[in-house]
Amino acid sequence: MTTKPLEGIKIIDFTHVQAGPACTQLLAWFGADVIKVERPGSGDVTRNQLRDISNADALYFTMLNSNKRSLTLDTKTPAGKEVLTKLIKESDVLVENFGPGALDRMGFTWEHINELNPGLIVASVKGFSDGHHYEDLKVYENVAQCAGGAASTTGFWDGPPTVSAAALGDSNTGMHLAIGILTALHARNKTGKGQKVAVSMQDAVINLCRVKLRDQQRLDRVGYLEEYPQYPHGTFSDVVPRGGNAGGGGQPGWVLKCKGWETDPNAYIYFTVQEQAWGKVAEAIGKPEWINDPAYSTARARQDKIFDIFATIEAWLADKTKFEAVDILRKFDIPCAPVLTMKEIAEDESLRKSGTIVEVDHKQRGKYLTVGSPIKFSDLSVEITGSPLLGEHTDEVLSELGYSADQIKSMHEGRVV
Ligand code: COA
Repeated sequence: MTTKPLEGIKIIDFTHVQAGPACTQLLAWFGADVIKVERPGSGDVTRNQLRDISNADALYFTMLNSNKRSLTLDTKTPAGKEVLTKLIKESDVLVENFGPGALDRMGFTWEHINELNPGLIVASVKGFSDGHHYEDLKVYENVAQCAGGAASTTGFWDGPPTVSAAALGDSNTGMHLAIGILTALHARNKTGKGQKVAVSMQDAVINLCRVKLRDQQRLDRVGYLEEYPQYPHGTFSDVVPRGGNAGGGGQPGWVLKCKGWETDPNAYIYFTVQEQAWGKVAEAIGKPEWINDPAYSTARARQDKIFDIFATIEAWLADKTKFEAVDILRKFDIPCAPVLTMKEIAEDESLRKSGTIVEVDHKQRGKYLTVGSPIKFSDLSVEITGSPLLGEHTDEVLSELGYSADQIKSMHEGRVV
């Protein structure tokens, strides 16, 4: 396909850190013209955070801002406001994830923006939703994971609430926002009207924690949760406990040690005991006598000894690496996978081939690895390009907006751009 699906959609990318940039990056991959508006001199704070090369944009920035253009603009100056006004008039979407009220304080309220361009979609990420009793709070990833119920239900029962390494608060919120933007664009095709689209980080985390809300209601009703490690030998309080590595659905599972676990902290597999596949599990681990033994043959019968079963599987795994184990278990159709490290993921040939892990060029850094599109299309190959340098496209964007070379020069001199 030569024309990308979102080609012709112009996006003012007023985002920073991770939640907003992840959203606009996704839209840029699919062909939108994403113009990242950044403060002159400094830009997105992640350009400087956690640098591994002293004079080059940090990976934190490059991995969240590919396929975009960068325009530096001080939107608190009159000239900067004028440029932003022109951009608003010409664009389809404005995406922002400033702290609460920042866009209003800049003079760009929803009402004003809607007056300038009634077709514009204004998409926002905030920590909490409008009207929430915490709506004034600034929020980062782990704050959202705690406020969204993820932390209280993650980790082990004898440890503190635990956050996940997966960006449930940041990138996940950005993905929700992207769905909202595409929905609003679809609606605009029918009505011609833009609208406000908002996703709060707390809400996006809650959306991913819905099975825990399921469990709260089950716990309220019956007082226990049979798929949690606390059942049947431990105790339950009146809140959903942390379940360690238990499977979240009806299939018991656990992270099991493989050969080398004593020295390699990731020599593990995740093993699932699928209810309907018990025969295969018993066969695979060399316990055919368990297949029809009433003490083992039903999920209910296994429940009170599931950890003994896992211990037996671990004994079977003791002389197999995680990869060898999976190669055997896959023949028995057992849902399982090795616990992969980031190093293994970076080097995985299948992930390179599918474009999920890609190497891109960057003007300062040379080559770096990033995560490509997890969404695969039959008629679109998503090409990932390097992130822009700070202000790399300032003159280009200003001239597209109709500014002359002299006007652009004086904006540079006045540090407006
Ligand atoms: N020109 C001039 N001023 C600019 C500008 C530009 N191009 N871009 C940003 N600014 C200003 C804003 O107007 C704001 O000014 P004000 O507070 O004086 O009105 C200021 O920069 C900083 O905004 P803010 O977003 O509050 O930054 P922060 O660094 O204090 O907070 C967050 C960072 C992420 C905590 C906050 O933005 C936030 O809570 N965002 C919503 C939730 C979110 O997305 N969290 C991060 C997930 S990764």
